[in-house]
Amino acid sequence: AYRAAITGWGAYVPAQVLTNADLERMVATSDEWIVTRTGIRERRIAGPDETTVQMATAAAQRALETAQLDPQRLDLVIVATTTPDYLMPATGSLVQAALGATRAGAFDLVAACSGFVYALGVGAQFIMAGTARAVLVVGVDALTRWLDFTDRTTCVLFGDGAGAVVLEASEADEGVLSTVLGSDGTGALHLYLEGFPELLRANGSVAPKRPVIRMAGREVFRFSVRIIGEAALEAVARAGLSLDDVDLLIPHQANRRIIEAAVERLGLPWEKVWVNLDRYGNTSAASVPIGLAEAADQGVLHPGMNVVLVAFGAGLAWAASVVRW
Ligand code: ACO
Repeated sequence: AYRAAITGWGAYVPAQVLTNADLERMVATSDEWIVTRTGIRERRIAGPDETTVQMATAAAQRALETAQLDPQRLDLVIVATTTPDYLMPATGSLVQAALGATRAGAFDLVAACSGFVYALGVGAQFIMAGTARAVLVVGVDALTRWLDFTDRTTCVLFGDGAGAVVLEASEADEGVLSTVLGSDGTGALHLYLEGFPELLRANGSVAPKRPVIRMAGREVFRFSVRIIGEAALEAVARAGLSLDDVDLLIPHQANRRIIEAAVERLGLPWEKVWVNLDRYGNTSAASVPIGLAEAADQGVLHPGMNVVLVAFGAGLAWAASVVRW
């Protein structure tokens, strides 16, 4: 039986920085409010040349370079995104072509902020089943395209970016040890993109000029704090480990207070938690793989370490995984 080892990683964030001071000039908010309520100081905004496909491809190329893998050896490309450039064709096919991954199948996976951890689980299954030897998994989102920049309750939270990993078949005791996937669609209207006809009908609301993100912040906050701990503990148990065996937790970067409350409940030391949302805000499906790539590039990860990835968001959906580095 094969394990799905992470052999490559990479991230891409747009050059354009939007600071809290910039937002102060756009809506009735303040740097002080945003920092104390969320921990976010700045975020990156995709420019006209930074499409979802381009950001995904840039992160994927870096991941292939770290893995030292020829793109033609990829069997599968999975792109987790909620902000595709087109609904048809799939982002995965465009990334596959841009990389020259001519032998690979490709598709998109939609699970909002949980998308990358969902896709990691899917990709790992193909390798563990012996169907694929090398899989590229990308998490990419440009949620700022769907923000209402007059709505201060949402526009301060999000940023754009991409992260990717290469999974390869390994016979060593490493890689994806467990996957937990969850969903509670009864919470669909706590966080959604308004403007699609079916949801408008369900809501009895009038179509906005273009689709915009709507969110019940407190509902999502409570759900997130609970689910981080539950999903992480379940993933650790399924890996046959205990919380003491965890060397690093990389949670989805939505709000520093959500992470702090969840980590305090878990009783995990703060030094074992990766937080970078001060610089990127909530990059949706990109947040966990950007964190993973940063931790790897900064030399924080060493062979044998147990890393817990946990994500949550619209659906409501969540996913967690234990990866042995
Ligand atoms: N600047 C200044 N004031 C603001 C802002 C802002 N940007 N946003 C809201 N306020 C005001 C509100 O209007 C409210 O004023 P009021 O008391 O006069 O009504 C006050 O601040 C407090 O608002 P709350 O909503 O109670 O603030 P809270 O402490 O709950 O923080 C927040 C709001 C940051 C949105 C929080 O609820 C949160 O982070 N929720 C989770 C959101 C999230 O992570 N979503 C993404 C999930 S992942 C995905 O799938 C995309």
